[in-house]
Amino acid sequence: MTDITTLMDELTLDEQVSLMAGQDMWNVGGIERLGIGALRVTDGPNGARGGGDFVHGTHSAAFPVGIALGATWDPDLMHQIGGALALETRDKGASVLLGPTINLQRGPLNGRNFECYSEDPVLTAKLTVSYVQGLQAAGVAATLKHFVANESEIRRTVNSSDADERTLRELYLVPFERAVKEAGAWAIMSAYNRINGTYAADNRWLLTEVLRGDWGFDGLVMSDWFGLRSTVDGAIAGLDLEMPGPTIQRGDKLVEAVRRGDVPAELVRQAALNVLRLLERTGTLRDTTPRREVENERPETRALIREAGVQSAVLLKNDGALPLSDSARIAVIGPNARTARVMGGGSAQLNAYRMVSPWDGLAQVLPEDRLSYAEGCTNERFSPVLEGDFTREWFKGDLSGDPVATDTVHALHAFMADGPEGIDPLDHAVRITGRFTAPEAGTWRFGFHSAGRSRLFLDGEEVAEAWDSWARGRTFFEEGCDPVTVERDLGAGQSIEIAFEFATHPTHDLHVSGYHLGVGRVLGQAEIDRAADIAAEADVALVCVGRSAEWDTEGWDLPDMTLPGLQDRLVEAVAARAPRTIVLLQTGGPVAMPWLDRVDAVLQGWYPGQEAGQAFADVLTGARSPGGRLPQSFPTRLDDALTFSGTPEVTYPGEDGHVRYDEGLYIGYRHHARSRPAAFPFGFGLGYTDFAFGKPEVRVKPDGTGDLRLTVTNTGAREGAAVVQLYIAPAAAPVDRPEAELKNFAKLSLAPGDSGIATLALAARDFAWFDGDRRCWAIAPGEYTLRLGTSATDIFATAAVHLEGRDLPL
Ligand code: BGC
Repeated sequence: MTDITTLMDELTLDEQVSLMAGQDMWNVGGIERLGIGALRVTDGPNGARGGGDFVHGTHSAAFPVGIALGATWDPDLMHQIGGALALETRDKGASVLLGPTINLQRGPLNGRNFECYSEDPVLTAKLTVSYVQGLQAAGVAATLKHFVANESEIRRTVNSSDADERTLRELYLVPFERAVKEAGAWAIMSAYNRINGTYAADNRWLLTEVLRGDWGFDGLVMSDWFGLRSTVDGAIAGLDLEMPGPTIQRGDKLVEAVRRGDVPAELVRQAALNVLRLLERTGTLRDTTPRREVENERPETRALIREAGVQSAVLLKNDGALPLSDSARIAVIGPNARTARVMGGGSAQLNAYRMVSPWDGLAQVLPEDRLSYAEGCTNERFSPVLEGDFTREWFKGDLSGDPVATDTVHALHAFMADGPEGIDPLDHAVRITGRFTAPEAGTWRFGFHSAGRSRLFLDGEEVAEAWDSWARGRTFFEEGCDPVTVERDLGAGQSIEIAFEFATHPTHDLHVSGYHLGVGRVLGQAEIDRAADIAAEADVALVCVGRSAEWDTEGWDLPDMTLPGLQDRLVEAVAARAPRTIVLLQTGGPVAMPWLDRVDAVLQGWYPGQEAGQAFADVLTGARSPGGRLPQSFPTRLDDALTFSGTPEVTYPGEDGHVRYDEGLYIGYRHHARSRPAAFPFGFGLGYTDFAFGKPEVRVKPDGTGDLRLTVTNTGAREGAAVVQLYIAPAAAPVDRPEAELKNFAKLSLAPGDSGIATLALAARDFAWFDGDRRCWAIAPGEYTLRLGTSATDIFATAAVHLEGRDLPL
């Protein structure tokens, strides 16, 4: 095996520095002179997208999003998913996957709530450890992100998350710590935000003292994209790799800083060594062949994704409407019925091999004459992208002069457009012309937004602009304006001439450009009434509502917890007329359900990856039992989530550049245990069978190590999974502690009549709190109650253990 330390001795200072920054968006250049290969990375985390267009690039497999994986409570499944993702990553010529996302769900509105696993650090950590082990066993590096306290998207590149050390150590750092210590993660990505005033990428306490010092991390630390803002501070903090390239902060600037003595040469050597070590670990140190992307759709990966979908689906309510009876006529209704919602938005997007909608999933297993359909209403944030044959003229710089190229474009959405030769994605303009023909009569809404300036002409007249009035809004990662819309009444078959102009302009934080022009019919009460009529004719209505990747996306936060558009009205109207109503929810986090009492069943399906409709059909028809449990508490209303009560602006979304984590440890169920109980508690989920739990056998020593075992029996008539959750209610400590905290869990899938043993191991740390004064984990002596439950509030057994007082190292 190559000795990377010896190899390092052959590198000049310039070469070492060149390894400390990307060469382009996804590659770190190798060193040709010494036969050192390039390091290629890919997003992450719910699939391997590869290097191209975020939406239309090379096809890849779309796995369930983070919160869906969190809902599986299934470390074994996570291990398999890690292994499958390793193959996907290799298909894209990469050896580093940019995931998993392991920030916590601090409140319900984070745009990336969907990408995170849970509000609980232990659930997140256990799933992460398995995912990382599965991935890295196949030689592909995991990248834990975003380190740390990146719990909201609003002004994420400037805000400081202000949290005391105990809160960080007991909550937000835990998943990272365990993935480093237990899974030996090879890479980590610093967050965009500041932590207590210092950018994560410049934070020596975080990147060196905690990560390498306390935890013994020996992998690579990279910045989030364009998230490094310094030459000297970041290098001294221990930020090994600036991404992406070409470099902004390093290169000659860093070489100079070393020569001036501002950055010790040894630190540069160490950072470059960390890059070489990652190349070595992923088997690419000597691989100088060009990296190629291939499509390789694997049947076993499809099956795994479908299984994960079943295991993530959370049945929140069931008054006997599910599973569907064998002969039921089903009205499939709603904006998410025939449109597959399989993933969230932002950098986690990819071009999925398949996207199965609920309608398609059901139509594969049920005769079509038992299914009827109505859209009812829309739930879009942006008008659906305008498609057709449009002529696009490309200009260098602005729209003056002659176009340098002309092509045909079929979908009027672009993000970092791959233009013709000589076109700079950040310095160009386009004029797009064509026609739109209304397929049916009605009011049509044209809507556009852009990172860059844009304006729309209909039949030769400028009707709307984000040109002179362009203002930074919440699209394109906060580099784009908010949508601009204009409506037109059109008859069926009426055609209108479209001209759309776009020109880039200087960006703020992230170097991106893009535009979106869409058009969609405005739906109103008439369509809701029609859906209710169709529901009344069926035996049962399945209302498919929720959000989409336009709402659950990186780069902005949700405005509220309400279902967008007229969806609440649609559910109410259908429930009033249908014999039975089942709501299939697809969101990346909690939503308010004002109609809850009037419907018979609610199934939360999240964004479960490309096989979505298949997994839903499995669960709805009863071929499989829903295996998911909530990884995040669902409050009744937004005000019930602590982050949003008390001093709202300061704690969220922040004021004067600071988001104060004043609630400390009291997020999610830790908060709901004190006040404002959740509508659906953390850990909750129904199935189609019943379980009996035997008396627990507790074998915990006074030092806090040991385990707890119990027999679980499926006493019902169908297969199903039980998730046994172990919460610890602590002894009196010199500090305030949450009433009880999850410390372990076990998921058992059992056939009817079968029994299994749940074994829940405990470590001393599970009883400890972080003592900042004495720099240790402290166990207060006394009695601790072990609570066994099927959610944070449904406890079926308790046991007491007595522990001696003890300190544990960091
Ligand atoms: C995201 C990262 C992602 C990176 C590369 C950033 O905007 O925060 O999670 O890996 O872009 O796409």
